[in-house]
Amino acid sequence: MSKILVTGSTGNLGGKTVEHLFNKIPTSDIIAFAKEGENADLLIEKGIEVRYGDYFNYDSLLNAFKGVDKIMLVGSHGFTDRITQHYNVIAAARQAGVKHIHYTSIMRKEGSKLIFPEITESDVFTEHALRASGLAYTILFQPPFADVLPFYYGFKPLEDGFNLTEGKGKFNPATRDDLGEAQAEILSTSGHENKSYLLAGSEAISFHDIAETISELNGQKVAYNVISEKEYVDRHVAAGIPQNVAEFVLVWVKALNDGEYAGKSDDIERFLGRKTTPYRTFLESVQPANA
Ligand SMILES: NC(=O)c1ccc[n+]([C@@H]2O[C@H](COP(=O)([O-])OP(=O)(O)OC[C@H]3O[C@@H](n4cnc5c(N)ncnc54)[C@H](OP(=O)(O)O)[C@@H]3O)[C@@H](O)[C@H]2O)c1
Repeated sequence: MSKILVTGSTGNLGGKTVEHLFNKIPTSDIIAFAKEGENADLLIEKGIEVRYGDYFNYDSLLNAFKGVDKIMLVGSHGFTDRITQHYNVIAAARQAGVKHIHYTSIMRKEGSKLIFPEITESDVFTEHALRASGLAYTILFQPPFADVLPFYYGFKPLEDGFNLTEGKGKFNPATRDDLGEAQAEILSTSGHENKSYLLAGSEAISFHDIAETISELNGQKVAYNVISEKEYVDRHVAAGIPQNVAEFVLVWVKALNDGEYAGKSDDIERFLGRKTTPYRTFLESVQPANA
């Protein structure tokens, strides 16, 4: 009888985590935290208790965290003062008597000099704040989400080809479904106090490998065009993406191509009891939208 609250439960990663927790523990032990104004009807229909609040509204957090033992804090959006939001969650959790917080940092390669704008500083801040809070903590280092990769290389590769900046680095992505399943396993079992896990996927791939796989799946060669950083940003802006977000996406692509997100541990396979979903299988599941 330990109450687990998952934030971002109407979003992708939090939603997948709640879905897998639902299959592992009694529904009465799950609390889905949703942003005020979000539609959480699907969770309510399943009999899951939904509590509403906002990371910027401290009192709403204090209220929502009453009687909760463990929180999974899904990192908030970039460009929205993540430091204040995450700090509020940790402080309110402590005041409400929560014992343990799990946090989804984005993985960082050992020795890397990459400071990812909008991400690294607030992730490091959150990890330090958790360590200093006196609460038990678990850091769940996230790899690139496999489901988000088409956003970087384009949703119509057969028509448009891949248009990316130079680099052939590999990375170890995982789907948000696999991550949610692993996180549900960690949340619902004991012995994870003050530990960090690297949830990088089993498979190392590059954008070139993905282009090859899409070519094979469709019997049509996908063109791979190396373009300048400026052209990459300009193409996104022309497609309606704000300039700052386009520049943010460019940082992802450069980091992926530079091998910043390469490397795995056995953690995710241990928690899933299997290897992660291969990117090819992910592509087959979303055809024809991504190929
Ligand atoms: N590893 C990667 O490749 C990668 C890629 C992209 C993002 N990320 C990170 O991973 C996180 C989760 O990704 P995701 O795909 O699950 O994102 P998502 O679907 O947008 O989910 C984020 C959730 O946080 C909620 N939220 C945002 N601001 C809030 C606030 N002030 N108070 C309460 N709840 C709030 C959102 O609610 P609303 O929808 O109402 O705003 C949403 O439910 C992102 O936020 C980002 O930090 C990682």
